[in-house]
Amino acid sequence: MSKTFKSILVTGGSGQVGYELCRALSAFGSILAPSRDELDLSDANAVDVYLAKHQPDLIVNPAAWTAVDAAETHQNEATRLNTALPAQLAKYADKHNAYLVHYSTDYVYAGTGDKPWLESDTPAPLSVYGQTKLAGDQAVVHHCKNHLIFRTSWVYADRGNNFLKTMLKLGEQRDSLNIVNDQFGAPTNARMIAQVTALAIYRKLLNQPIESGVYHLVNNGVTNWYGFAEAIFKQARLNNLPLKLDKLGGISTAEFPTPAARPANSRLNVSKLENALGIKLPNWQQQLEYTLNSYLK
Ligand SMILES: NC(=O)c1ccc[n+]([C@@H]2O[C@H](COP(=O)([O-])OP(=O)(O)OC[C@H]3O[C@@H](n4cnc5c(N)ncnc54)[C@H](OP(=O)(O)O)[C@@H]3O)[C@@H](O)[C@H]2O)c1
Repeated sequence: MSKTFKSILVTGGSGQVGYELCRALSAFGSILAPSRDELDLSDANAVDVYLAKHQPDLIVNPAAWTAVDAAETHQNEATRLNTALPAQLAKYADKHNAYLVHYSTDYVYAGTGDKPWLESDTPAPLSVYGQTKLAGDQAVVHHCKNHLIFRTSWVYADRGNNFLKTMLKLGEQRDSLNIVNDQFGAPTNARMIAQVTALAIYRKLLNQPIESGVYHLVNNGVTNWYGFAEAIFKQARLNNLPLKLDKLGGISTAEFPTPAARPANSRLNVSKLENALGIKLPNWQQQLEYTLNSYLK
């Protein structure tokens, strides 16, 4: 590779996407991925000191307050991580001519209708989490010229806490389960997010960056949480995982109330990113099969 970054800051390197980013971006320069003990991102002053000391020229920010229900009662903490931190990183990046890649969520949309959302649609978040993430996106756009914002959904990986791992655990413990079947979206593999991010960053290194702005980055295809669970258990059985589960049923969102409201329609149109990078994003089922085959073997 002809050119690399001097120093790459990956926030939230212990998270699902952050862990994969540290692997996917390692060829692009020296990676800094401070743990929470090394850098508490809720401490704005500590973040300023860290940036001044290490002067990253690429900042990739998957760190977030991702506890959607807890955000309803921890608005200040969620706002710091999801809004103020991206704003702070964006101001630094703009001032120091660094490139900023940030991550956002399907939860910025209202969830009405059944058409896939476009990046140009007006967001209308239903929850504190969604509101704080949307304000973070707006801050990045406002404060930093050279940025990318990737909105993703239903993230899973073979590590961390996620729906896939919860289902596998419950499937071994319970003989019946009811899963919500009226919220639609695309399960998205954290490694795929990191690899596509790497491709976009490579374009920047080649001096052919894709245009700054918001892009949807999710696996292709659509399902609901029940369909996701069904596919997980099918693959688990094919991999001979001993499951106690005998009956998988569907329930409505109304039958499974949560502190934070979830959008019913989380379908995201990915054409903008596919066209910008000249790629076709993989289908969610194919990615799930691939992840489970390696995770369970
Ligand atoms: N998960 C999903 O289903 C989903 C869906 C749509 C969009 N997204 C977005 O995608 C991005 C990545 O999500 P993810 O699932 O990879 O998140 P995740 O696994 O929950 O990881 C979050 C990361 O942020 C770090 N973090 C949080 N507060 C911190 C603090 N005060 N100081 C230092 N580190 C802190 C965590 O560190 P610790 O390990 O120390 O806690 C962790 O490394 C986020 O922007 C999220 O909003 C996620």
